[in-house]
Amino acid sequence: MDNAQAPQPVYRQARFADLSDIAALEAEVFHEPYLYLMLRQLYDLHGSEWFVADLDGGVVGYALILEKHGRALLFTFAVAEELQHRGYGRALLDCALDRCASIGAELMYLTVRPDNYNASKLFKQAGFVFAEHDDQYFGLGEPRDVLRYPLAEYDSRNLGADEQSRVMRCRLEHR
Ligand SMILES: CC(C)(COP(=O)(O)OP(=O)(O)OC[C@H]1O[C@@H](n2cnc3c(N)ncnc32)[C@H](O)[C@@H]1OP(=O)(O)O)[C@@H](O)C(=O)NCCC(=O)NCCS
Repeated sequence: MDNAQAPQPVYRQARFADLSDIAALEAEVFHEPYLYLMLRQLYDLHGSEWFVADLDGGVVGYALILEKHGRALLFTFAVAEELQHRGYGRALLDCALDRCASIGAELMYLTVRPDNYNASKLFKQAGFVFAEHDDQYFGLGEPRDVLRYPLAEYDSRNLGADEQSRVMRCRLEHR
């Protein structure tokens, strides 16, 4: 589907009431999902940096950030399987980057399985760069690539016109 024809979600800050939808999507998309109880605890500290894609009142994607001392980790990130490849993931990523830059974080980083080509490609298109590979990041048989985005290099004016206006709406929705 052409992105212009795809229904467009609202990208907004996550609310407490979204946590069960986020947990359900985690379980749909990941083999080892973060559970509701973990999300609920982390939400208390970090919910102001969590974004969801809201389509007709339902959460269809999310980008959850954990920030401390200027380092912002993309903790988990997903779009509902049947709604992938419509640009929702990139939009969430742009909102998250913009938010991290606006709170003064110096670095956004993430880990990705080396065989997760779709996600890696999306991150690199958004401006993340490879930082390191760790063969046992999450223990034996759990390698991860670490990608980073130095936020001194972030400037929303470098986005295309549509992306810029989406990021602006995201800022407004965040209040
Ligand atoms: C990674 C993930 C969040 C991306 O979400 P998404 O909504 O599919 O992302 P986008 O649509 O913005 O971009 C993905 C691809 O779709 C393409 N795309 C975007 N709009 C499109 C459209 N209308 N039609 C076809 N393709 C489109 C993008 O160009 C990109 O393709 P490319 O990688 O070949 O360039 C999603 O694949 C996901 O949830 N994966 C499982 C969980 C996961 O791996 N999370 C990351 C862990 S680190």
